[in-house]
Amino acid sequence: MERLKPEEEKAIRRFVRLRMKPLDPAHGFDHVECVVRLTLKIGRAEGANLRIAVAAAYLHDLPPENVRGKFDYSTEDSAREAEAFLAKIGFPRGEVGRVVEAILPASYSMHLRGVHPKTLEAKVVRDADFLDAMGARGIARVFATSAYYGVRRLGRVRWNPERPVKLPPSLKGPDPTPIHHFYSKLLWLKDLMQTETGRKIAEQRHQYMVEFLKRFNAEMRGAT
Ligand SMILES: [Fe+2]
Repeated sequence: MERLKPEEEKAIRRFVRLRMKPLDPAHGFDHVECVVRLTLKIGRAEGANLRIAVAAAYLHDLPPENVRGKFDYSTEDSAREAEAFLAKIGFPRGEVGRVVEAILPASYSMHLRGVHPKTLEAKVVRDADFLDAMGARGIARVFATSAYYGVRRLGRVRWNPERPVKLPPSLKGPDPTPIHHFYSKLLWLKDLMQTETGRKIAEQRHQYMVEFLKRFNAEMRGAT
């Protein structure tokens, strides 16, 4: 199975760690590491090319310069910078294009814009990225991001998470509350999985979020 050479991976890790320093708590280097680990796990099970998929996982969330205060940045910026960086470290030209192709659809904003993964590697990386927005990490990330962008309330669970209503997502800023974000995005991610392996992991992470919301609601009502 094709993998990144140790020196390639080392160079990529160093570059990404530095570039992601100024980002919000949901987009630190730990997010990248989780996406890489999930990419390896899903990619192995699905038979993806791990050189391409892992390079894309590392480079999928590079922000534009002066990211501070920007709510949404596109994976197009990331793909552009990844392309230049990989060329600079001598990554084979034919593979750079495949990495770019795997980065472009790897974000929820690109999904909303109708950009969907076509190659197996792109599907693996997108599943990995969406999975890190689910489960315990997904819960931690949504509360951290909301606070980072100045949201002042936690929100209330108004709908049964087992039969959620679809709330509209805010496109120009954070959702009104982190609880709202479960209903606009997080509870729907399991239906967007692209691989069988991703679907299985998503099922468990989804269930954990449902339990969290039920418990949050019960505690708000003083029931437990
Ligand atoms: Fe990401």
